[in-house]
Amino acid sequence: MDTPLARLHPACTPPADSFADALMTGLRKSPKQISAKYFYDAPGSQLFDEICDLPEYYQTRTETALLRRHAPEIAALMGDGAEIVEFGAGSLRKIRILLDQGMAHTYVPLDISGEYLQDVVQTLAADYPALEVRPVVADFTLPMDIPGQARRAGFFPGSTIGNFRPEAAAALLRRMRAVLNGGGLLIGVDLVKDPTRLHDAYNDAAGVTARFNKNLLVRANRELGADFDIDAFAHYAPYNVPMQRIEMYLVSLKRQIVTLWGEQFEFAQGEALYTEDSHKYTIENFREMAVSAGFSPRAVWTDEERLFSVHWLESR
Ligand code: AVI
Repeated sequence: MDTPLARLHPACTPPADSFADALMTGLRKSPKQISAKYFYDAPGSQLFDEICDLPEYYQTRTETALLRRHAPEIAALMGDGAEIVEFGAGSLRKIRILLDQGMAHTYVPLDISGEYLQDVVQTLAADYPALEVRPVVADFTLPMDIPGQARRAGFFPGSTIGNFRPEAAAALLRRMRAVLNGGGLLIGVDLVKDPTRLHDAYNDAAGVTARFNKNLLVRANRELGADFDIDAFAHYAPYNVPMQRIEMYLVSLKRQIVTLWGEQFEFAQGEALYTEDSHKYTIENFREMAVSAGFSPRAVWTDEERLFSVHWLESR
């Protein structure tokens, strides 16, 4: 078993921009918080794949159906010989719908979880032998430098844009636009709707979302030698109606002290670690944000119930 880092180097400062650094900094804040990007180690990515198959999580199947239904039109917009860059590629399931249209020459999946990307890319490359696959392990929340000058088609499905506060989301769209070299962006956006429907999607009966949320603590214990008592935290994910977002928390069920890198953090009973926002948009609000980021909204597709939307934005 690995010796916990906390006991090896109690006086060390964790590397900047690492999970350790983010957690230390976030635990010192009030309210305690951490970026949702740290959910996605290999077990977290697997749990997210399970979420996508849950009956309550309508987002994945609705977006998938939209992509299937409109794939020929999307392929025409991306153009023949397209170089597709997928931001936060994950399981690489949805991209297959586009690749099956045969218009792509190159596919650049970009993901923060190198381990996971490595696995899924092998299978994809074998299934599309004519496709040039250039995986990049990168954090798309930081400035990106993707080599090459080709005009690109961006792909950012799953409403991951909703995990950023609106100003950060607009800044991210601007950064994506900068690496597209004049090309367009296909992006999935979850829509505002009946709060009960939203609540159920993040509070599934099987408890998978709860495990996904708590995996953050499991990861901290395993990777950083922290000593979170996992069972003493509850998953809590209410929908904040005025803010139009799901907020996800890990709430301490008792007073407890957690040690990380030699520093002690106290959780009062009922105190939370704020782990995620998932913003929901109207089609109009989202298009306005895209315009502010330098895109011209062109096509938008939605389902009959108006649960989810897929947008094609062109660079201005
Ligand atoms: C990745 N992201 C769009 C998901 C969402 O719906 O905000 C993450 C998630 N969190 C809980 N369930 C799913």
